[in-house]
Amino acid sequence: MSFSIPQRKTVALVGASGSGKTTIARLVPRFWEASQGQVLIAGINMKDIDQKELMKHISFVFQNTKLFKTTLLENIKYGNPDATMEEVEKAIDMAQCREIIDKQPLGLNTKIGTEGTYLSGGEQQRIVLARAILKNAPIVVLDEATAFADPENEHLIHKALSELTKGKTVLMIAHRLTSITDADNILVIDKV
Ligand SMILES: Nc1ncnc2c1ncn2[C@@H]1O[C@H](COP(=O)(O)OP(=O)(O)OP(=O)(O)O)[C@@H](O)[C@H]1O
Ligand SMILES: [Mg+2]
Repeated sequence: MSFSIPQRKTVALVGASGSGKTTIARLVPRFWEASQGQVLIAGINMKDIDQKELMKHISFVFQNTKLFKTTLLENIKYGNPDATMEEVEKAIDMAQCREIIDKQPLGLNTKIGTEGTYLSGGEQQRIVLARAILKNAPIVVLDEATAFADPENEHLIHKALSELTKGKTVLMIAHRLTSITDADNILVIDKV
């Protein structure tokens, strides 16, 4: 297959389970090297870009992105360790995470995975989105999780996703209808 994503546009990939969507998305941040063909960013072959340098330009949120066993603050700041508290707070609001943090007795200093502090799947997803929003990279690769389907969470995640992708070049694997209809272009992987 071959396709290109114009700058600041959103391309959605849809297709049956097992059709290769995640595989394609993982080639972009070079989690896997393409054994055939090539992935270019602004005409430059990704293989010629230092992985560390490449990471500065791409935010990615994958189906199975997990939180680290540390505080919520560190989990979010991982997106940009140099961010100010003001920027962190802004990312929290944009990712619809305010209520998640407010209900923890230690707020942002709450440690994940300790003393029974576990967030729901949808809450974790929003914290991961806050991290990506804080990173503010020009390219966003998203592999939406299919779970967390209750309408309230779906609505919050959709809002967080629109904040993350605003003005960015986006490759999104979309399961939610709302995400698909937001795309400039929809690619269907068929007959694999
Ligand atoms: N290293 C590998 N070698 C060969 N096949 C693989 C390898 N890794 C994964 N696959 C297969 O490639 C296919 C595509 O998997 P992929 O995860 O990209 O699908 P997907 O479209 O993201 O599915 P879903 O919608 O369920 O997330 C699957 O059948 C998977 O088992
Ligand atoms: Mg997948």
